[in-house]
Formats: sequence, C-alpha cells, structure tokens
Amino acid sequence: MRHNIAVLLSGNGSNLKAIIDKGIKVSFVASNNSKALGLKIAKNANIPFYSWKNVLDLEEEVLKLIIEYDIKLLVLAGYMRLLSQNFVNSLPSKFIVNVHPSLLPKYKGMNAIKQAIDDCAENTGVTIHYVDEGMDSGSIIKQDSIKINENDTVETLKDRLQTIEHRLYSDTIKSILIKN
Ligand code: GRF
Repeated sequence: MRHNIAVLLSGNGSNLKAIIDKGIKVSFVASNNSKALGLKIAKNANIPFYSWKNVLDLEEEVLKLIIEYDIKLLVLAGYMRLLSQNFVNSLPSKFIVNVHPSLLPKYKGMNAIKQAIDDCAENTGVTIHYVDEGMDSGSIIKQDSIKINENDTVETLKDRLQTIEHRLYSDTIKSILIKN
C-alpha cells in the first residue's frame, strides 16, 4: 500500500491487528495509555510506538510525527479521548477516521452497545466515520447493521460487532487509501 497511516489507540488493539493483517502499512502507533495491549501488537509487528499520558502532549507530538512519517490518514482504533479542536483543525479535513460500535447518529459516546440494549433497539451496528471536533459527529463513510437477539448481553453483542469492525474498518481504510 502506497500511503502511510498512523493509529491512535487506548486499549486492546484488535482493530490495529486486523489492519496489520490486511497488509496495510502502519507507520507508527501512539497511545495515551502506556499499558495498552495495542502497543504490544505494534511492538510485535515492528511498528514504532509511542505513549504520552497527557493528551495535549500526545496531540502535540503526534502532529510532529505525522509530518515526520509523511502520514496520509490518521486512524483512531479505540482511542478513548476526544481530540481537541486545535488538533483536528491543524489537519486537513477527511484526514482522521474512527470506528464506533453503533449506527450513528444513534448511541454516541461511551457505552454505545449498552445504550442500544437498554433502548431495546432491534438493530445496532458499526459506523466508520470521519472525525471532526464533535463527539462521534463527523460524516459517515460506511455502516453495517446486525440484529440484536433477545438474549444478547453487552459481551455477546460486542463480540459480533467487533467481528464486523475488523472487516469493515480495514476494508474502508484500504479503499480510502486507494482513492487518494
Ligand atoms: C472498538 O469496539 C471500537 O468500536 C471502539 O473502541 C473499540 C476498540 O477495540 N471505538 P480494539 O481496541 O480495537 O479491540
């Protein structure tokens, strides 16, 4: 793949792994959590990785790394902090993408899976969207939906949604990179 991408994450990094397994070149991974399992995935794949606890420090350093590595797309994969307006506005539009476990604009923010169950929704799904300064409010690129079963728990639904995420996110990233 011609273009370089960077990944920001805070946790397990299963989406990072799916992206790597798809053959997409990840130039670096950064996290606000030095203990994030996703950083181990980066390490095992020989991808440079960085962490800063303070999110403003992280944003400042990531902006420098984006230039240094000539990054074309910044991928949020379980990055659990809202990006500052200054950070988002420092980058071109349609430069940052995110994956969210609901059919946006429904169930924004934290606990999206629980929100859908508590709401007795018939369906939920996965949304891939561009990131703006708002919370899960950027324009939608792709969505895929599934039925919520009567006996679904947050855990069972999360498992099914993550299976979709791993395919949909890496495919969408690939097609954005091919178009650019
Ligand atoms: C995903 O479920 C995604 O929808 C949400 O954060 C989770 C990250 O999972 N934004 P992982 O760290 O990629 O396993």
